[in-house]
Amino acid sequence: MKYVLGIDLGTSGTKTVLFDQNGKGIASATVEYPLYQPQNGWAEQDPADWANAALATIQSVLKQSGVNPEDVVSLGISGQMHGLVMLDEDNQVIRRSIIWADQRTAKECEEITEKVGYDTLIRITANPALTGFTLSKVMWVRKHEPDNYARCRHILLPKDYVRFVLTGDYATEVSDASGMQMLDVPNRCWSQELLELLDIDPALLPKVYESCEVTGHISAEAAAKTGLSEKTLVVGGAGDNAAAAVGTGVVEDGKAFTTIGTSGVVFAHTDQLAIDPKGRVHTFCCAVPGAWHVMGVVQAAGLSLKWFRDNFCAAEMEAAKQMGVDAYELTNKEAAESPIGANKLLYAPYLMGERTPHLDADCRGMFFGLSAMHQRRDLLRAVMEGVTYSLNDCLSILAGMGVAPETMLACGGGGKSPFWRQMLADVMNCPVATTVNTEGPALGVAILASVGAGLYPSVQEACRQMIRVNPAQEPIAENVPKYAKVYALYTELYRANKDLFKRLGGLDA
Ligand code: XUL
Repeated sequence: MKYVLGIDLGTSGTKTVLFDQNGKGIASATVEYPLYQPQNGWAEQDPADWANAALATIQSVLKQSGVNPEDVVSLGISGQMHGLVMLDEDNQVIRRSIIWADQRTAKECEEITEKVGYDTLIRITANPALTGFTLSKVMWVRKHEPDNYARCRHILLPKDYVRFVLTGDYATEVSDASGMQMLDVPNRCWSQELLELLDIDPALLPKVYESCEVTGHISAEAAAKTGLSEKTLVVGGAGDNAAAAVGTGVVEDGKAFTTIGTSGVVFAHTDQLAIDPKGRVHTFCCAVPGAWHVMGVVQAAGLSLKWFRDNFCAAEMEAAKQMGVDAYELTNKEAAESPIGANKLLYAPYLMGERTPHLDADCRGMFFGLSAMHQRRDLLRAVMEGVTYSLNDCLSILAGMGVAPETMLACGGGGKSPFWRQMLADVMNCPVATTVNTEGPALGVAILASVGAGLYPSVQEACRQMIRVNPAQEPIAENVPKYAKVYALYTELYRANKDLFKRLGGLDA
């Protein structure tokens, strides 16, 4: 039996899973790390935390499984997208990584649009300038920290920094590179034209591969630190969403998935390049060679519930600890005691600004309709509903582009909750299924690794062999119109408050 490793570098932690060549999870380990928010709307992480987490979790799964390292033929890395890692000439990290959720770069986005031109930007990168994307972060450091920029010799994405630690190679692949906004997305290579217009040295950027291509192998130093063999191959891997797509079998037209992780995503595969001219959903190269995907992103999906749990559910967290269960099991039960519509309480999930459907770094979260009769369970339910409505906003835009999936696969931490999945099915009015293996992105990159190592001839064939799907949860007919009424009101909330968010951001008090 041969084995493949999938490393998933998330925002809350890194999870590494060892799979056999049939896609069965053999051992898994997770290490968490902090998120730094030095100012409102800023978000940073320490690349050393990611590297240490990857090394420790690899070591742990090898030890737990007792598998001979020589039989681990390949590994893939998936990761939070867009984060900026800068290395100096000695390969030392120059500053903390400014990550995907950071919203400080509105001015740089204006500058990019002005210098490149909106139409050219869409033609080359398939997306408008976005605060979340890497390019505006590079421009921010150049303007605000010129000394750091002058010392920079290599720009890497989070998962590609971990690849560097494991292999010594400066490499990336098309799916994650699409989110840097320096890639020519239709042609799958760096855009000389864009780099010239913005005066960015192409030598700073890593080599670009397809996601299932081999980019190198484990270095002697990393082998000594992890217990892996130097022969273990490392493939391109993928951005977390492209990896989740592979891990749920969303690798051909007509298939889609929804993730409720820290952020939330509605993702559909497309063999033909499709671009939303209004830029409300992203078009990126996907992990299947020669194909793309369209996806809507909700900045604070699972993050909304985590924020609420951490700040207002101390009792549930304590009780869960005593009972040895996940605190979300208790908060889900509590939310289910409140009716659809949470007793006329709505929640907008814009804790970190928003991307889809409102491309707006200034908007913020809110509860609408609080009354003295509301209890914590209503607030919990409102948070879950608000996130679900926002995911439904994403689906509506895809539908407008002619992408209407027949079944939705659910993944991410929130996708594990049958209660939340039923809510998704009812709000989206579409069957929602899960895969038997719930390791989404980690399995996705392990599948890419199995293709890179030659265990399977194509990504689609590897998915057929390695993924099993559970029976879907169907929408409950009587719930669908009830949610639809609340959703109609929800869609008005943003517009009614748009200007107030700007004024709030500008307050000096
Ligand atoms: C995608 C995105 C998020 C991050 C964090 O554009 O920003 O999905 O990758 O997980």
